[in-house]
Amino acid sequence: MQDIPTLLRQMTLAEKAALVTGASAWTTTPIERLELPELLLTDGPHGVRRSPDIHALGLQSLPATCFPTAALLAATWDRALLYRVGEALAAEAVALEVDVLLGPGVNMKRTPLCGRNFEYFSEDPLLAGELAAQLVAGIQSKGVGTSLKHFAANNQEYQRFSIDAVVDTRTLHEIYLPAFERVVKQAQPWTVMCAYNRLNGSYGAENTALLTALLRQEWGFAGLVVSDWGAVHDRVRSLQAGLDLEMPGPKPRRTQAVIEAVQTGQLDESVLDTSVQRILTLAQQAAATPKGGAFPVADHHALARQVAAAGMVLLKNDGLLPLRTPHRIAVIGRAAREPHFQGGGSSHIHPTQVDSPFDELQKLAGEATLTYCTGYPADDRLDPALIDEAVQAASQAEVALLYIALPSYKESEGYDRPDLDLTAQQVALIQAVSAAQPRCVVLLHNGAAVVMSDWIDGVAAVLEVWMAGQAGGGAIADLLFGVVNPSGKLAESFPLRLVDTPAALNYPGENGQVRYGEGLFIGYRFYDARQAPVLFPFGHGLSYTTFAYSHPSVSATPFRDIDGVTVSIDVTNTGSLAGSETVQLYVHDRHCSLTRPVKELKGFTKVFLQPGETRRLSIELDFRAFAFYHPGHQRWVAEAGEFELLIGASAADIRATVTVLLQTTQELPSLLHAESTVREWLADPRGQAVAAPLIHQITQQMGAALNGGGEEGAGIGMDLAGFLQEMPLASILGFQEERLPAPAETIVADLLRQLHRR
Ligand code: BGC
Repeated sequence: MQDIPTLLRQMTLAEKAALVTGASAWTTTPIERLELPELLLTDGPHGVRRSPDIHALGLQSLPATCFPTAALLAATWDRALLYRVGEALAAEAVALEVDVLLGPGVNMKRTPLCGRNFEYFSEDPLLAGELAAQLVAGIQSKGVGTSLKHFAANNQEYQRFSIDAVVDTRTLHEIYLPAFERVVKQAQPWTVMCAYNRLNGSYGAENTALLTALLRQEWGFAGLVVSDWGAVHDRVRSLQAGLDLEMPGPKPRRTQAVIEAVQTGQLDESVLDTSVQRILTLAQQAAATPKGGAFPVADHHALARQVAAAGMVLLKNDGLLPLRTPHRIAVIGRAAREPHFQGGGSSHIHPTQVDSPFDELQKLAGEATLTYCTGYPADDRLDPALIDEAVQAASQAEVALLYIALPSYKESEGYDRPDLDLTAQQVALIQAVSAAQPRCVVLLHNGAAVVMSDWIDGVAAVLEVWMAGQAGGGAIADLLFGVVNPSGKLAESFPLRLVDTPAALNYPGENGQVRYGEGLFIGYRFYDARQAPVLFPFGHGLSYTTFAYSHPSVSATPFRDIDGVTVSIDVTNTGSLAGSETVQLYVHDRHCSLTRPVKELKGFTKVFLQPGETRRLSIELDFRAFAFYHPGHQRWVAEAGEFELLIGASAADIRATVTVLLQTTQELPSLLHAESTVREWLADPRGQAVAAPLIHQITQQMGAALNGGGEEGAGIGMDLAGFLQEMPLASILGFQEERLPAPAETIVADLLRQLHRR
């Protein structure tokens, strides 16, 4: 390839306009005259979905490893493992001649009803961002591009092409943007994919504030912005907003519109040139890695199994697990033979092989006899005969294993879930089987939280299997028999009921809008603030061993915000099996001028320990770990004062607390303005310094006037000081205008001038 400026100089307007829209379902426009090759972009995110005909939208794809979906990947809390998955995905992309893998998706799990939560990481932006950054870094380390998606606030499938997410500035910055920001800053994805939906009135593809001001100017993104497939409404407007590549194509009318817009002066050609340059840069990046060859199918299958076991979450265990060589096992549920290992939609992979959970169990079960019953039909029918058969089998066995999969008509890309329930037949099946055989384990195959109140008390153990990828069946067997010690922890809260969930009253929206009325309070932030019980808290996950936390310490207190602080703690494996523990660090702000969540995850680390082994772990906290996004200052602010650092095994299992004192180095302008209340003037140190004497005098006079000269507070039955505090200073002054040397507004303006001089 020639260098980019040379290429650009040689391109005609028509060629440039053609380049910024794809040539087919998955490819960009080649320019043969200039030897510019087409680029191949394919889904993503947890496997390579490369169609045999790269120009066709068809549903077929070539065999590739189906790794577990992001819901499970996140539950590993394991950065290094995510990097390795990334490397493996890239190796397959190279073999399948793919230039850019369309993923990962880091949208927040605002509601467990979102049909696509299985493809997303977490309800927590730090966890999602940290893990996705490793996945991106792993993929790109092998010369394959990624596409961080869907930017931004794409948190439901209901009306996903058009819904307008109405989100306040602070919530956007603290909850919905930081995962993107973290990945962009840590891993520089080659591309970012815009969302279909609107955000505060503007389509993802036309959102200048997101695509240019924030992504490029503030975060320093140097890559290319690609549209989600079919997300562009107006090609010229989207180019102006910063959307470089429209997919899919071809779209001759769009291309013509771009040509005409340049010719008529509506679109500055330099805007087009910028996008063209970015596409050329992407082509150059991709060309640096020769494509083709084969990938190590068996190794990747083994990796998929290791990852699957690391992210399955042991939710409940009364001691039945790990299984101790039972002789007769009832294996119930069609998912034992027809594995439910991935979700529907654009991420659907054609796996290289799929492990049968039943067969994998048999391999580890030694001499034990396994009996299988279907348990439930593939559709939503109730079939009592299947339940009777399962009960019979369970009562004749020593243990019953229930492989329960949420059917795809209840969960997929493209539509949201109607509820958080298993099917009626599945619930009835679990109830009946556990009544006949209390030594029973439920193995849940689903992409996001389900409710369990109707049956959980009756069963001995529950393993959340998620959509575990093509090797999930073997991973289940590994965990059941203790070949692998469970170490997954929830990256999302499991609620007791749908009505308890944070967005319940503000979902799915109406009249084309969904208002994020719960604000900052999604996931555990909501349950903490409401002191509301959950079925299983964020961060929860059991092990076959136990861990003790001791000797917490911090590197410094007080510390300066710009220096940050390091927290350390000893973790000991106090049980008799080797295992991994994920230590979570939450920050609680003791006092803040704005409302904050009770605590927020700001660090984590996963450690593998032999029985009896102790390791000292350290987690660094930087400025942002203590900061909140101040909508008035429009920047991140860390206020001076005490913070509690909560070190725990889950959001609801805090094992140690250390208090630190933060000293601020930030110089912030005063936010007082002409309408500020007396209370606001007095709360602001600079405001107090310039206005306290006047406020004192004026409130005294006002109080006396309101009281008709009587005792303070008499007469009108209120706390006068409180009443006056909520009035704008200018309004109180206005009531006494005749005694003032100047109009009230002039006096306040003068005070504001004095204050800004300080
Ligand atoms: C999805 C994207 C996907 C694209 C291409 C869209 O419908 O939202 O996540 O990458 O299709 O298949």
